[in-house]
Amino acid sequence: MRAPKGLEGVIVDSTAISVSDPEGYIIYRGYDLSELAEKSSFEETAYLILNGRLPSSTELKEFRLSLAKNRDVPPMVMRTISQLPKRSPMMDVLRIGVSLLGSFDRERDLQNTESNMRKAIKLVSRTATLVANGFRVVHGGQRPVKPNAKLDHSSNFLYVLKNKTASQLHVRSFEQTLILYMDHDFNASTFATRVVGSTLADAYSAASAGLAALKGPLHGGANEKAMEMLRNFKSVEEARDWVKQTLGRKERIMGFGHRVYRKIDPRVPVAKNILRRLSEENSQTAKLLDICLAVEEVMWSEKQIPPNIDFYAAPIYYSLGIPIPTYTPIFALTRMVGWSAHFIEQVETNKLIRPNAEYVGQRGLKYVPIEMRN
Ligand code: CMC
Repeated sequence: MRAPKGLEGVIVDSTAISVSDPEGYIIYRGYDLSELAEKSSFEETAYLILNGRLPSSTELKEFRLSLAKNRDVPPMVMRTISQLPKRSPMMDVLRIGVSLLGSFDRERDLQNTESNMRKAIKLVSRTATLVANGFRVVHGGQRPVKPNAKLDHSSNFLYVLKNKTASQLHVRSFEQTLILYMDHDFNASTFATRVVGSTLADAYSAASAGLAALKGPLHGGANEKAMEMLRNFKSVEEARDWVKQTLGRKERIMGFGHRVYRKIDPRVPVAKNILRRLSEENSQTAKLLDICLAVEEVMWSEKQIPPNIDFYAAPIYYSLGIPIPTYTPIFALTRMVGWSAHFIEQVETNKLIRPNAEYVGQRGLKYVPIEMRN
């Protein structure tokens, strides 16, 4: 059996966690993602993805509490991170931080669902702290902020990052993007996580693999690249011209295109509504939205390629005053929920993932001792 390059269109295993359909919808555990993004919270959707069903109010309260109780990162981890070169890429900071978290978890190598679920909560909770405080320390030269156990996951992240409480509108806008990014069946980083899980390595090792894969600009790295492009445009006309010239040079526009969705990424309309709402309170955001719409229009008329979630998540974060180097790590801190659920599902139904390759190298060469080689 020869699979196509990039495993395009190949079904490699089954999952009950989520599905991305080329027709333009995403389902998390039976529920339509657009509805969850409108009506649910980060904690409720995370519970759903990890446990396979929506929680009762008592279960949700307990889940919120366990996330809030697990936010503190061991001081040794923060000290080690603070030794990294200033302005190190935040995905590297995060990957190093997550590996270190594994060293401090006594049940790291316990391989059963109850233990892996506890590790999932620690990973989800502490990754958010690592991103916010990691940025403060490594990029801002500031002191870490103690997480506030009274705040929910999204409010607390924004509070730690900026050391001040965000408005309800900003928290809710941010929370909705976390729900949109939370899971996406067998994308590259989730697949990497599952490959590591299939060797029965620990959850921290699998999460580190997910982080490594997400960093790339063809995957999670695209949201930062999209914003670096967008913020350079001073007008809609400048944006249009630049996109046309870039396409003329056969270069890619970051935040466009998708392996599964050729017509519409179902996360985009939800994200666009969030940006519209934010643009009502801020004229700079309104201008940014106009630029995004113009770029989208040119990409469609020139190439028939639609935007993906990264293209609209980036200006949302920018409007919330979130620093660009944290955009891919923010994607990671919520995808950590999906990676953890996939890791658990993989281990529970495990078969080592070990494909073959078609060998196209040489054969039958005769070994020549080094002293006889020219
Ligand atoms: N800009 C310009 N042309 C593009 C783009 C783009 N962003 N994306 C695809 N194309 C063209 C590509 O050049 C190719 O044209 P041709 O057939 O003439 O060579 C054609 O579309 C098919 O592209 P492909 O790379 O073979 O398609 P793929 O399914 O392997 O790639 C992708 C999917 C996401 C890697 C690609 O669309 C891309 O590089 N996009 C930019 C990076 C990006 O935004 N990534 C985020 C993905 S969604 C969120 C996430 O999961 O992280």
